[in-house]
Amino acid sequence: MKKFLYLLMGGWLLCSPMLSHASLIQEKKCSECHRLSKDGTEKSGPDLFYAGNKFQASWLEQYLQNPVTIRSTGGTRDPGFLKGAPESSQKHLELSKKDARQITQELMSIKLLDLPEEVDRLKPLTKGKKAKIKYEFERTFSCISCHQSLNLAGKVRGGVSGPSLVNAGNRLQARWVASWLKNPKLFSDQSRMPIYRMEDEARLRLTQFIATLKNENKR
Ligand code: HEC
Ligand code: HEC
Repeated sequence: MKKFLYLLMGGWLLCSPMLSHASLIQEKKCSECHRLSKDGTEKSGPDLFYAGNKFQASWLEQYLQNPVTIRSTGGTRDPGFLKGAPESSQKHLELSKKDARQITQELMSIKLLDLPEEVDRLKPLTKGKKAKIKYEFERTFSCISCHQSLNLAGKVRGGVSGPSLVNAGNRLQARWVASWLKNPKLFSDQSRMPIYRMEDEARLRLTQFIATLKNENKR
């Protein structure tokens, strides 16, 4: 009877939704550096178990073919973090167009939960409003001390202990940014980012500001 139970449990594990997504991701051993589920400790690369909530598919497909540096000091779980020798300074593995497309599809289907639509209804920012939020981003909350972003003249500014947000408007889904700012613990138990207790309005304003940060606005 016991044996039968183990067999049953094994069968259940094999059918769990994570594994059924994992074909090419598994074949390419992405999980050596990335967590594909919240179990276990964080790895040297950023978590991907909520990739479908976090990334914009078109960015992802590009990145997997032509990776760029986002964390120039390494990820926070990288043994070389802030010591000048991050693992991420090694070039990221590059995929062919075909593989990148397939893995993008697989990653986009890995979601943690449905995120609230609160940001979808917001009106686009006017220039004046954007300038005010930039002030909040830089001065009120000092986000810029850890994150690179663009100033109003399109110049890259900011610290490097957090991921670069210079192209965040093309890279990240606004709904995810809003959720991250509200409750980072949902995604990471070990984040080094301070948890801000800010009003929802401020949180959504910052989300909208981050969505305007794009490489094509860089001067
Ligand atoms: C040797 C370790 C390693 C392997 C193997 C690896 N990655 Fe990465 N990956 C990293 C590191 C480190 C970063 C962070 C780079 C940075 O921020 O500049 C990263 C970044 C990423 C990002 C961007 C994540 C973000 O939050 O910005 C994606 C997407 C990604 N990897 C997907 C994959 C996929 C898909 C595979 C398998 C085909 C893979 N990686 C294999 C180490 C690895
Ligand atoms: C003390 C440094 C620090 C400050 C200040 C800070 N962050 Fe972060 N932030 C981080 C780090 C480090 C991460 C990477 C996630 C982690 O630690 O797990 C991060 C992650 C993020 C991410 C997700 C980026 C990604 O690709 O994963 C966003 C968006 C973000 N921060 C926005 C902000 C905003 C907006 C503010 C100001 C309200 C802010 N941060 C202030 C350190 C900081």
